[in-house]
Amino acid sequence: MQREVDHIAIAVSDLDASIALYSSLFQIEAVHREEVESFGVEIATLSVGGTEIELLAATSEDSPIHKFVQRRGPGLHHIAFAVADVGRELARLKKEGVRLIDETPRRGKGNSLVAFIHPGSTGGVLYELVQPPRAR
Ligand code: CO
Repeated sequence: MQREVDHIAIAVSDLDASIALYSSLFQIEAVHREEVESFGVEIATLSVGGTEIELLAATSEDSPIHKFVQRRGPGLHHIAFAVADVGRELARLKKEGVRLIDETPRRGKGNSLVAFIHPGSTGGVLYELVQPPRAR
């Protein structure tokens, strides 16, 4: 199976400053901004070929991104793979004994369905599975 990276997510403390940084460093522009309330984040999407870079800024102190930035500073947060059926992938991983952060899919950006896999089962990297709305 050919896996595709849907996006690479970077935790930032200041979304506008980070958008400006990517623009000046790499000449990459933000193509979309969206607040995802369930995650307590505002997301800026930067399009880079077939994948995306997502800059994530916390919108509240309860946000996992707020906690992440407080603890470790801004930086790489997670890598997301595109999947056709996130529920089926979760069931497969669960059967293999993989630690899941989300036992059931939840709503992500742009009406996608997403689930996170615990870094304890992946060698220390937080991975997300994304089922884009077009695949539903
Ligand atoms: Co993500």
